Amino acid sequence: MTTETITRPANVPADRVIDFDIYKFPIKGLEYQRSMREVLMSKSADVLWTPRNGGHWIAKTNETVAKVLADADHFSSRRILVDPVERATPPLVPLQLDPPHHAPYRALLQAALSPKAVGQLGERARELSIQLIEGFKADGHCEFIGQFAQHLPIAIFMEIVGLPASDRPLLTSIAEVAMRGETEDERNEASGKLMAYGMGKVAERRANPGNDLISLFVQTEVEGKPIDDFPLTGMILLLLLAGLDTVASTLGFFAQFLATNPEHRRQLVENPELIANATEELLRRFPIANLAREVKADVELGGVQLKAGEMVLVPTLMDGMDEDKFADPLTVDFNREKPGANSTFGGGVHRCVGSMLARTELRVFLEEWLKRIPDFSIKPGTNPKVSARSVATITSLELVWPV
Ligand code: HEM
Repeated sequence: MTTETITRPANVPADRVIDFDIYKFPIKGLEYQRSMREVLMSKSADVLWTPRNGGHWIAKTNETVAKVLADADHFSSRRILVDPVERATPPLVPLQLDPPHHAPYRALLQAALSPKAVGQLGERARELSIQLIEGFKADGHCEFIGQFAQHLPIAIFMEIVGLPASDRPLLTSIAEVAMRGETEDERNEASGKLMAYGMGKVAERRANPGNDLISLFVQTEVEGKPIDDFPLTGMILLLLLAGLDTVASTLGFFAQFLATNPEHRRQLVENPELIANATEELLRRFPIANLAREVKADVELGGVQLKAGEMVLVPTLMDGMDEDKFADPLTVDFNREKPGANSTFGGGVHRCVGSMLARTELRVFLEEWLKRIPDFSIKPGTNPKVSARSVATITSLELVWPV
């Protein structure tokens, strides 16, 4: 991240400029999504440009978000952060591969996350959720992020990949620093540790294959040859980072919404059949991912000319919260029709391969939590905060309930 601004290039019209820092804009309380939308809506054009973080475009309507994500010929995912910093870690595979190299790797992950596999993982998520909630229910309080939100997805990741549950605390803490460390150096160091962990597991399974996913990957061929250690580690890291941080962050936003909106909470407690649609509606209202693409070849978008090499920020919330697509978009309505038609899980060839699993984990959380802890609120005197990185998250959330 850089705080310096750069000079406006000739292809950027003056009326498209907004002083917007994706990592540092004013956030009102926990209202990350509402606040970002408000800042970006202060200018009317469909596509804006900011001089921050190396200088980049911002797609800010449902149409421009969808267009960028659908057009891999012009918008590459080789770089997935707007910052001009290159990381030493392996590219996250298949996320950072463009077609045609992307598809065969994605197919491997799709097979691992088939509906049958997700069915079994969903049952495991239910057992784990119950176990975690029962573990602290009698205390009348918990720190939701550390005691629940991070546990669930990492335990599921360990199941998918076939890693020992005993490595869970270590991986959780390193992944947290890799995603949200204070400085670039801290984040890089933690990413390096994750890479070393992944490489170690790949070497182990090459020497001693078992029935797990890493063993399957080491024995699989892609484009006519075995997968090298580097992309293989990138696949494992992607599964970890994409599945852990996103689910944990979304759980945090779901929990804070329900903690502060008793009527919505009561509606779900009294009508559990609404939970599936409520999951979709909360995903629409609380998207957490800010995607980025590099312009591959000069292209027009929203009335401006983008040049090859420039970066575009694609905040997924600008689709789910676009009023041309969803009436009264800031309001959470569990009876809303088709809330799921949004970009919270991305779009185009990279659309989230774990979306079915994520939806299952979130739904299971709502079902099992509300059955056991129907009334809860944010602990008075605490001041939960949002960390605004490429994935927005609530860093700690103290909840209390009557016992
Ligand atoms: C609420 C939770 C989740 C959200 C909001 C989410 C969001 C996203 C988004 C927006 C993308 C597209 C990224 C891009 O185009 O740059 C993506 C891709 C991906 N997600 Fe998720 N995700 C979630 C959970 C998961 C889970 C649980 C897994 C797996 C265990 C997963 C695995 C992946 C993978 C592998 C990709 C890359 C797909 C590709 O490049 O073809 N995600 N996710």
